[in-house]
Amino acid sequence: MKRILFVFAAALFAQTAAAETIKIGFISSYSGLNGNLGPYMERGARLYLKQHEKELPPGTKVEFLVRDDTGVNPDKAKQLAQELIVRDKVNLLAGVIFTPNALAMAPLCTEAKVPFVIMNAGTSVITTKSPYIVRLSFTLWQSSYPLGEWAAKHFKKAYTMVSDFGPGIDSEQAFDKGFTAGGGQIVGSVRVPLQNPDFATYMQKVKDSKPDTLMVFVPAGKTATAVMKAFREIGLGSAGIKLIGPGDITTDEELQNMGDVALGVTTVHHYSAAATRPANKAFVAAWKKEYGANETPNFVAVGGYDGMAAIMYAIEKQNGKWDPDRAMALFKEFKDPNSPRGPISIDPETRDVVQNEYLREVRKVGGKLKNVEIETVGTAVKDPWKELQKK
Ligand code: PHB
Repeated sequence: MKRILFVFAAALFAQTAAAETIKIGFISSYSGLNGNLGPYMERGARLYLKQHEKELPPGTKVEFLVRDDTGVNPDKAKQLAQELIVRDKVNLLAGVIFTPNALAMAPLCTEAKVPFVIMNAGTSVITTKSPYIVRLSFTLWQSSYPLGEWAAKHFKKAYTMVSDFGPGIDSEQAFDKGFTAGGGQIVGSVRVPLQNPDFATYMQKVKDSKPDTLMVFVPAGKTATAVMKAFREIGLGSAGIKLIGPGDITTDEELQNMGDVALGVTTVHHYSAAATRPANKAFVAAWKKEYGANETPNFVAVGGYDGMAAIMYAIEKQNGKWDPDRAMALFKEFKDPNSPRGPISIDPETRDVVQNEYLREVRKVGGKLKNVEIETVGTAVKDPWKELQKK
């Protein structure tokens, strides 16, 4: 009798263990500055889940608890994370477009031992703020440092203009380091307010100082389009100044809104919707099938997609159970040779994504503006800021 009871209890336990629901506290920006970006991230994550749901351990379900942090709003992000952890008892946090929000959430992850999968926020220092953070997106150093090295071979004098917050400062410093090491000279630099800067005034100053090139970082979305408009209106292109930057400034979803001023803008980035590698063609086709023929994914979408791939890997390897420390160990060994962006892996030392960086130029293909990948300027690039810190 005892034995039968034991077997029964064990079977019951196995059943409840298998019928686990993994809850993801998903925080992104659906309103406020560039509030159009949140849905790209969420759609990317949900598309991966849909494509791979059948690979989940039997009985395991994944639930998204979606929250709007309302743009750059660290207090709000912290409050949402707190509620998701304490009240909703999520297994992990994911998402976040903006660096200040990610930084505000980091101490909570450490305290509560809740893994946090970053799908966008790109300031290098973020992953050092909690051992429970892993990043599947990018750092600005990954794009802006090779951009600086490339630019030194083509231009003598550069001006830099960045949004005055974490990723902007990283982009400026990374570009500066790559450019000056290659013999280039920075003739001016300006950090502009994140919200509603008067780009025309700054562009006039740039034009007056006659650099060969202007390197810009602003957050992707409408801010990037505002930069393009001011660049055209003040006539920097006709003055012979070449616009360059990390791929945020020619973000795929805004290209058609920018118009022909974007033609010829050269950027370095890890993802372009126009990339012709088979994994990306399949991804873009799946995106259009799911969300509409006129929809195009962007780098935020791919951050959500690959972030979800890492989460699914950690769920599958734990057979539906969820232990936060085991999850972190699994994130550290995650790799995908076939991401839409090319091969990716997680650097176990830094918990940052390792990926290729591509030189791209905006060109018209079939009547549409596209970020055409021209050359791979970095293979398996680890966050250069952390690499330089080691030296
Ligand atoms: C960030 O806040 O880290 C951030 C935001 C938008 C970008 C890149 C980085 O395009």
